[in-house]
Amino acid sequence: MKIAIGADHAGYVFKSAIIELLEAREIEIIDYGTKNLDSVDYPIYAFKVAKSVSNHEADLGVLICGTGVGMAIAANKVKGIRAGVCQSVFAAKAIREHNDANIICLGSRTNTLDEVIEFVTIFLDTQFSRGERHQKRIDIISDYEKENK
Ligand code: RB5
Repeated sequence: MKIAIGADHAGYVFKSAIIELLEAREIEIIDYGTKNLDSVDYPIYAFKVAKSVSNHEADLGVLICGTGVGMAIAANKVKGIRAGVCQSVFAAKAIREHNDANIICLGSRTNTLDEVIEFVTIFLDTQFSRGERHQKRIDIISDYEKENK
């Protein structure tokens, strides 16, 4: 499995810790930055990670900003991306099982590092529940995307 990861300045410290977690699990990583605490614009990093997942360079993506929300808004503009904001254990599981999210968006100002590490672990270890009702809903979104290029 290959994971694309990116953060703005607010998410930089958490990104470094998540990379350690991924490396400990021997998961391949593409780190799209940012590489320090200087203030940057989160959409730049959201688009880099989202494009990497969209063109199948990476299997899944992880984005971190202050809340996860800005990253998700930007990432979801990229074709084929289902980026889910995750601020709870419940959401970490649900965005994979129900929404087949291919990017998890995390907040350094909404959660502790320990919580975020747990969310990433759950996200990686949970599969999409291929039940008919969930697939039907994903298909409605994909069809909308195709019809409204
Ligand atoms: C940066 O200050 C902050 O606005 C950003 O990290 C994020 O929370 C946006 O959604």
